[in-house]
Formats: sequence, C-alpha cells, structure tokens
Amino acid sequence: MPLMTTKPMFDLAYDGGFAIGAFNVNNMEITQGIIEACAAEQSPLILQISKGARKYANMRYLKHIIDAAVEEHPVLPIAIHLDHGDTAQLVETCLNDGFTSVMIDGSHHPYEENVRLTAEVAKIAHQAGVVVEAELGMLGGIEEHVVGLQAEEYEKNIEKFLTDPQQAGDFWKRTGVDSLAIAIGTSHGAYKFKHEAKLAMDRIELIMKNCPGLPLVMHGSSSVPREFIDLINKYGGSMPDAMGVPEEEIHRAVSKYGVCKVNIDTDLRLALTAKIREVFATKPAEFDPRNYLGPGREAIIGLVRRKLHMLKSAGKAEAVVRQWKKLGEPLPIFYMKSSRA
Ligand code: G3H
Ligand code: 13P
Ligand code: ZN
Repeated sequence: MPLMTTKPMFDLAYDGGFAIGAFNVNNMEITQGIIEACAAEQSPLILQISKGARKYANMRYLKHIIDAAVEEHPVLPIAIHLDHGDTAQLVETCLNDGFTSVMIDGSHHPYEENVRLTAEVAKIAHQAGVVVEAELGMLGGIEEHVVGLQAEEYEKNIEKFLTDPQQAGDFWKRTGVDSLAIAIGTSHGAYKFKHEAKLAMDRIELIMKNCPGLPLVMHGSSSVPREFIDLINKYGGSMPDAMGVPEEEIHRAVSKYGVCKVNIDTDLRLALTAKIREVFATKPAEFDPRNYLGPGREAIIGLVRRKLHMLKSAGKAEAVVRQWKKLGEPLPIFYMKSSRA
C-alpha cells in the first residue's frame, strides 16, 4: 500500500497537533533518503514534485522510483503532491499521472483571479478524488520575483504580503480547497532572513480562527542547518549569509495553529551538497558517484529523521493507515498502474 490523499493524514494531524513533512524529490538518492528515514521512523509522508523536477528528472523516471519506494515499504502512507502548480493544464497532467494531491498556486495573481483559477482546479481535482492545496499571500524567495519585486522591497513591506486572515475565510468558502498555504514570514531558499528569524504567529492564529478546521501549510520551512552551511563554506562553497526558519518556531506553529503540512526542499539540497563537497575536498581522487552520492543520501536520512521528530509525525504511520481505511478512499495502490502517461 498505500498511496493516498493527504486527507487521512491531515484529519489526524489537525486534531493531534502534528504535521506531515512534504519533501521535494528530484532524483533517486533524494527519494531514497526521504523514504528510508520515514520507514525508520514509521512516519507518514508527502513526496512533492515541482514543475522543475518534472522537467529535470522526466516524470516517467520519477514514477518508477516512487513505485519502487511503495513496493519496498508497503505499509508506509505516502501522498504524491504537485508543488506550486501554476495552470489547470499542469494539474490535469498530474491527475493523469496518478498524483493524489495537487497545489494550484495563484498567489501571484490578483485576488479574484486567484479565486477563479483555484475554484476551477478544485472542481477538476475533486472529480478525480484528488485533494487541492492553494496559496494566499506572498512568500519571499522565489515568488516575489514572479511579480518583479526585489528582495529588499519585499522585506520592507512584508506586512502587506502576509496572508490576510479575513480574505482567507472568503477564499476558502469560494474555492472549496482542502488546505491552504499561508504567508507568515517564511520564504523559499537558503536566505530567509537578514536579521531576526521570526514568524508572524499572530497571523497564523487569526487565520486559524477565521478558517476553523482548514489544514494550513507552511512553505519555505527549511531550517538551513548550520552544520551543512559550515561544511559547504569549509569546502569551497560560499553561503555566508544563509539563514532558515528555527525549528522551534515550526514546532510551535505545528503544535498550536493547525499547520498540517510543512514543506522542506532547501535542507535536502544543502545536505546533499555539503556531503558531496566534503568528499571532493577530502578525497580529491574520488570519481565514483556512489562514493559521494551515497554519503549525501545518508545525510538526508539523518536530516529527515530529525525533522519527523520535530514535526511529531514519527510513529504515526499506522494510525494514518487506519484512518485511510476508515475513509475508504478508492485510490490505486501502485502509481504506474494508475498512469495513462
Ligand atoms: O518551492 C520551490 C521548491 O523548492 C521547488 O523548487 O522549482 O527549483 O524545483 P524548484
Ligand atoms: P524551502 O526552500 O524552505 O525548503 O521550501 C520549500 C518549499 O516551500 C517547496 O514548496
Ligand atoms: Zn513552496
């Protein structure tokens, strides 16, 4: 088993004060690292795939890698999610590919257009039995570039870009989405804060009050671990000002404020890169990819295991499977078998 939607996961996470880690996958080693960690910790998980990942790895390869993971770990609850989908067409392709969850990110559009696009996608996805995440407000890092803002301008006016709690209630009512990504001070990438690393907890609390029962999603939630930045800088890299979201802040949001999904990509990239740099610097004659990708994969396993405890999803696999059976979701067991690609 089981590929499933995020519904059985979020049902338990919302009431239980824990969150599901949503990890971006781009290749075999990253996927294996995540899966091994979740299997060791008996944790439910979300594997998420961006448009860039589809382009880089070729969806056909990713599908087979995911199927292999499902086959290797038949009792682990896994959702396959489209990260930052930008069009209804891309969502439809992912539905055909057997995704169990999709994100439509219309946050860079004017509000009414975001509502229209999200409602359209929610209708299509729900007909296919697939759940939908949308986004309201604007994160930093990547998204401000979409609308042509400079990082400084974004930071200076951050209040303006955070999710409006009133609007969140209206958005949920009019779109029928299953979860909502919110802007509360996080941003994508390795440079999240210039000075103090802090989240707008008061915003999350208000959003939760206006949208009771709606699972909230935190994007841009890598913590940018010092150990990996130090290794990268020691072995020829240059990331002096990197700063992430403190894990205690994430832990607090997850425990108290209805945050059910926490997105992590940058930390996986840092772990892999740090280890590759270390091998290249300390063993300059090394040229076997297994001997540098292997340590990278090990570092990902260690990192993800720690995250699962921080999110308190470790040990929750069995309960999620029970909830999944209770809901009786008619979803395929294997990914490729569901695929028309
Ligand atoms: O939010 C962005 C994710 O980190 C995916 O990044 O578009 O480079 O694959 P990507
Ligand atoms: P990070 O860049 O903080 O890992 O965020 C990833 C993300 O939000 C993917 O959607
Ligand atoms: Zn994101």
